[in-house]
Amino acid sequence: MPSVSENRQRFGGADDWSQEGDEWSEYWGTAHAQWVGCLLPRVFPFLKGRILEIAPGHGRWTQFLQPHCTSLIGIDLAQVCVDRCTERFGHYPNLEFKVNDGLTFPMIENASIDFAFSFDSLVHAESDVMSSYANELARVLKPGGFAFLHHSNLDAVRRRSVLDKIKRRLSRLPFDQHWRAPSMSAEKMRAFVEGAGMMCVQQEIVPWGTGWPLMIDCMSTIVNTPGTQCHVVRNPRFMEEAAAIKRISSLRLDGCASRASLELARAGGNN
Ligand SMILES: C[S@@+](CC[C@H](N)C(=O)[O-])C[C@H]1O[C@@H](n2cnc3c(N)ncnc32)[C@H](O)[C@@H]1O
Repeated sequence: MPSVSENRQRFGGADDWSQEGDEWSEYWGTAHAQWVGCLLPRVFPFLKGRILEIAPGHGRWTQFLQPHCTSLIGIDLAQVCVDRCTERFGHYPNLEFKVNDGLTFPMIENASIDFAFSFDSLVHAESDVMSSYANELARVLKPGGFAFLHHSNLDAVRRRSVLDKIKRRLSRLPFDQHWRAPSMSAEKMRAFVEGAGMMCVQQEIVPWGTGWPLMIDCMSTIVNTPGTQCHVVRNPRFMEEAAAIKRISSLRLDGCASRASLELARAGGNN
């Protein structure tokens, strides 16, 4: 089970970050392709004002959140990540990064955040962390503010009785859990969010990785308003979408655009 101290140990080493985390975007081609093709369509309505990024690592998503915010605070439990982000984004006076205990954000003022974002980090966080972060989000989000959190759904996968039967039969198949937290599920996240006085407006339950397509992840969109109406979507084709994004990004359309501008400039120069 990835406890807070195991997460600190795993991500706190400088050696784990040779490509700044961009290597985890391989299924989508590049971090830019993953942002544009996968994440931006899911979060663009909420990108504004003061943004909280939970667990930015070395800033794989921070670089894309930055143009959309008036200010951003990134909170990570690993000192090396905070140091790297501070160095990488030091030229933006409105971005700051702080170390936390992996459970709370005491450095953030009440009702000060418009949008909280976390992707590819809290999938490693157990239910104690997610329950605590739900309470903290209810405190730091402005009334009506939104959060988009990517977290584990492994507990639900392990409990599904049909799957258990299949698993018994195919027990020799390798099942890569991608270090997901076994105690977390979409249902638990909804309960934590509602218990904290907020509402999950949507949950998208998705698989991760290639091979055995188990729906081990969830992206929860949360609003800081009490309520219980949640639209739960199961999207088993999430990794097929990733493969399509990778194919499109490999077409190097940005290269075409710059070649086209060059041709236009040349044509202009000839006139
Ligand atoms: C796999 S890295 C991903 C970083 C970044 N989100 C990305 O996608 O490149 C996981 C990050 O989560 C941080 N982390 C894990 N558990 C955390 C917790 N409970 N609170 C804050 N940060 C946490 C780690 O220190 C690490 O920076």
